[in-house]
Amino acid sequence: MSEPIVIAVDGPGGAGKGELTHRLAEALDFDLLDSGAIYRVLGYAVRKAGLALFDEDSVVQEAKLLNLSFECMDDGVHVLLGGEDVSSQIRTEEAGNNASKVAAYPSVRQALLQRQREFLREPGLVADGRDMGTVVFPRAQVKIFLDASAEVRAKRRCLQLEAKGKTVNYEEVLKEIQERDDRDRNRPVAPLKPADDAFILDSSDMNIEEVYKAAVDYIVKKTGLKIDL
Ligand code: C5P
Repeated sequence: MSEPIVIAVDGPGGAGKGELTHRLAEALDFDLLDSGAIYRVLGYAVRKAGLALFDEDSVVQEAKLLNLSFECMDDGVHVLLGGEDVSSQIRTEEAGNNASKVAAYPSVRQALLQRQREFLREPGLVADGRDMGTVVFPRAQVKIFLDASAEVRAKRRCLQLEAKGKTVNYEEVLKEIQERDDRDRNRPVAPLKPADDAFILDSSDMNIEEVYKAAVDYIVKKTGLKIDL
């Protein structure tokens, strides 16, 4: 029996993974695993429980008990913690930073490993994260590492924040992105890096259409799947 197909898309925050993976999952009718949301919810749950992010034992206990679910609604996928919709709370810069702190603990990553693998079902899964192709799904048939320079990612982030009516400071956004990259790239377990057999796609000078087309061309060549552009 053939295994379900995994399309692993890894890369730093702001490279465009979210939009690419949503489009791919929809075009292929595959499930989508947003693994970053799991770490974001964990960071949020730890703070909500009044626990310290630096206390690894408490964080890992929280990870083991995490009552998390994803729900498809008309306006997209919502993230629930113990039944409470926390989708907007986990999308802040602070939540991203807290996620990257809890994600650095090896014991926490271990506690969340199986839960991520359980997302795999027929016909296949599009998995978005930092270690999808290296650790969680090392046998993924397709591995894409979507990169972009920190400066380009900071500019994109500023535009997103401005579109939401927020006042932004480019230098501050860039600094936060660089700090998070640094923590994600230099942690001892599952650091952010391309798998040896990953297709590296640098989106610095590409728009989303060009990224989608390049990814689709690669997936079709690698798997023979049919995907509409
Ligand atoms: O992708 P997103 O920005 O939502 O991820 C938030 C943080 O969660 C990342 O900065 C990273 O530290 C962590 N993360 C991770 N492994 C993943 C996905 C996210 O360590 N597979």
